[in-house]
Amino acid sequence: MHVIFGNVHYESRSSSFTPFSNIFCESIRGRGGSFCFFRISYIIKTIMDYLEYYRLAEHPFSNVVDSRFYYNSPQQAGALGKLKYAVDTKKGLAVVIGNVGAGKTTLARRLLEQLDEENYEAALLVIIHSSVSSEWLFKKFAIQLGVKHVSDNKLELLGEIYKRLNEINEEGKKAVVLMDEVQMLNSREIMEEFRGLLNMESSEGKMVNFVFFGLPELDHVLMLDEPLKQRVAVRIRLTAYSEEDTAEYINHRLKVAGAGHEIFSSEAMRSVFKYSNGTPRLINTICDNALLEGFLNKKQVLDETVITNVAIDLGLKD
Ligand SMILES: Nc1ncnc2c1ncn2[C@@H]1O[C@H](COP(=O)(O)OP(=O)(O)OP(=O)(O)O)[C@@H](O)[C@H]1O
Ligand SMILES: [Mg+2]
Repeated sequence: MHVIFGNVHYESRSSSFTPFSNIFCESIRGRGGSFCFFRISYIIKTIMDYLEYYRLAEHPFSNVVDSRFYYNSPQQAGALGKLKYAVDTKKGLAVVIGNVGAGKTTLARRLLEQLDEENYEAALLVIIHSSVSSEWLFKKFAIQLGVKHVSDNKLELLGEIYKRLNEINEEGKKAVVLMDEVQMLNSREIMEEFRGLLNMESSEGKMVNFVFFGLPELDHVLMLDEPLKQRVAVRIRLTAYSEEDTAEYINHRLKVAGAGHEIFSSEAMRSVFKYSNGTPRLINTICDNALLEGFLNKKQVLDETVITNVAIDLGLKD
């Protein structure tokens, strides 16, 4: 069972943007009808011209989580391997921590895709605000795990979850709950509840596996319940890409988008690394803007100057 709740939340926290979506918003909100229509037509034409100019089939650096563009860096591959191991050996709790835009949600979606329905009862739950109650969480778990009658009474609900976890285990499947933005669950009570769920064991290991994804604050949230912190069986820290990985990431996305020739010079890629510090979302934003800038200035191959100008415009360079 694959359920994703309210995945719009991270966009509101994001500091990044694509030039096109911003222009669209401005024209729709602030202009009169016909002028707005003219602007939109003009923008669509510009986008098409830009794709045509670089002979691209689609946008290579869109800031959405799209599995077709997934780049399996050594770090990502290693993290996936460890998480899969934790789940397969029923370790109970694994944690992935990374800074804003480091690729946590992308990794969570990728892991979910790898948990086939035949062997796993898996779900991805996205925490969308910090005032979530433990009742709300348990109800979501229950629904996602396939509990048929979800009770309003917490004790009954726990019993139903336990029964369902037993069924899943008897079917020879593994129950996996991936949770994104867990740093928002800043509550001792909820952390204690997780510990309770993790105490449910069969002879082969934990009856439910959690993988928490979150910002570095997640470490503090886990500290709210020391016994829960001690139950973290695998902890992964996602770091920014190296200069080499940044270049490979850029080339990978360009290739998926249909590029058949060099668009970013090696100096340009070095500059992208310099201003993004190897953070994937920032790499996307810089490269997306650089393509537009390069198109407007008729530069088939983007150089360091284009990237520097874009970095200044984006406030990434003084
Ligand atoms: N491995 C990857 N392959 C391809 N694109 C990626 C990868 N990792 C990250 N990205 C790109 O970077 C963007 C930001 O990644 P993601 O949303 O996963 O970061 P995050 O750590 O969840 O950010 P936040 O802290 O804001 O929630 C994604 O929209 C995606 O376009
Ligand atoms: Mg995220």
